[in-house]
Amino acid sequence: MQTGRHPVNLALIGFMGTGKTSVGRHVAEQLGFEFLDTDEMIQSRTGRSIADIFAKDGEPAFRELERQVVQELSAREKTVIATGGGLPTNPENLAALKSFALVICLWASPGKIWERVRNQSHRPLLHDADPQQKIRDLLAAREPFYKQADVLINTDLRSVREAAQQIALQFKLATRKQR
Ligand code: S3P
Repeated sequence: MQTGRHPVNLALIGFMGTGKTSVGRHVAEQLGFEFLDTDEMIQSRTGRSIADIFAKDGEPAFRELERQVVQELSAREKTVIATGGGLPTNPENLAALKSFALVICLWASPGKIWERVRNQSHRPLLHDADPQQKIRDLLAAREPFYKQADVLINTDLRSVREAAQQIALQFKLATRKQR
């Protein structure tokens, strides 16, 4: 695909449970890139868990930390960046990602997402009386942001390895056409 830009990094956006971290690690390995995860960066920087930040400081404070991390990432090269599910809902973040990365969205259906996250407890936004409805509502609200990615990859029927191969190929195509 032709983006008209010169992406030197790869950013993975998408809903919780779409595999950004696991797929991102594989892609980084395939491309010989470094791997970073915005949630991990926030946790190591603050010394706190995401759940603790949400509980004590609130979601807006967490979103501000995300914004700061994205700004810092702009100096990176040859890095695969997995982002928190809500990060691209701030247009400033999405614009910044596009300025220094090819932006790939990992997509999954609400049913698949629920299958993957139902036995995990670290995501405060899913601590809800009806988490399946919450997934459907949040996914619908975020769809317009996710669809602004350069490439959309459905992970419902793809293994981590298949999704990673697809992404590495897209990155090579995007960078080759620009030379
Ligand atoms: C969030 C997704 C989480 C984490 C936080 C908020 C969201 O990341 O950033 O719990 O708003 O969707 P993952 O998408 O990696 O689970």
